[in-house]
Amino acid sequence: MPVVEAPFNLTIPRGQFVAFLGPSGCGKTTLMRMVGGLDTPSGGLILLEGASVGGPDRRRGMVFQSYSSFPWLTVEQNVLFGMKYRKDMLPAEKRERAVHYLKLVGLGAFGKSYPARISGGMRQRVAIARTLAAGSEVLLMDEPFGALDAQLREELQVELRRIQMEDAKTVIFVTHDVEEAVFLADRVIVFSPRPASIRADIDITARLGAARDLELRDSAEFFRIRTEILHMLRHAPAMGG
Ligand SMILES: Nc1ncnc2c1ncn2[C@@H]1O[C@H](COP(=O)(O)OP(=O)(O)OP(=O)(O)O)[C@@H](O)[C@H]1O
Ligand SMILES: [Mg+2]
Repeated sequence: MPVVEAPFNLTIPRGQFVAFLGPSGCGKTTLMRMVGGLDTPSGGLILLEGASVGGPDRRRGMVFQSYSSFPWLTVEQNVLFGMKYRKDMLPAEKRERAVHYLKLVGLGAFGKSYPARISGGMRQRVAIARTLAAGSEVLLMDEPFGALDAQLREELQVELRRIQMEDAKTVIFVTHDVEEAVFLADRVIVFSPRPASIRADIDITARLGAARDLELRDSAEFFRIRTEILHMLRHAPAMGG
């Protein structure tokens, strides 16, 4: 595959919740993998607090589109695994956190189950619980709620925003759901089709405020932003090449 270049700069301040929107195949997952240190860019630089990103490390926790869990570990052991290297937590505290986050994602009763015995959406929730429990400063989430039903998705959106605000976490969140992006993020980046460039950089918090509750979704301004973005995605310039 030829190297495609469409240079852009993006600086994400600490504690900001950024959502990436863009057509399928524009390179969102690729970009996330590079931020996570799983892939190396063929050109350009990815800096974390001024230092070039090497391999993956515990400062960045990831939840990916195709999630993974260890089949030989129970659900709870999978979540505990995310805290394996946390020297600052006692085993009892780790267990407490595992139980807490499993409950949060609606899996309180499944701690002793093995991944093969639960559904795909439930495994996705295990991955979310593991990442939240690990307590990374930066969360990279690639369509994490894609496989969930509408109700649970809404609950987890509210929880994620709450956790992000409480701990001032930096989050990069990829989604195809425009409303999800507007509801969750301080800032929405809309990418053009591949090779992706930044089409729009929208300051959501300036327009909706930082506090997000479900009623906000019914507000006129929410609707206006959503429509603007949908329009932008619909009228994306044709794919080159
Ligand atoms: N700038 C780029 N240079 C080289 N290859 C790219 C670039 N952008 C995307 N690709 C390639 O395009 C393919 C699709 O990219 P990717 O999976 O990142 O898209 P996506 O935006 O996550 O799509 P989806 O929304 O469907 O998940 C991958 O094979 C990736 O390697
Ligand atoms: Mg993707």
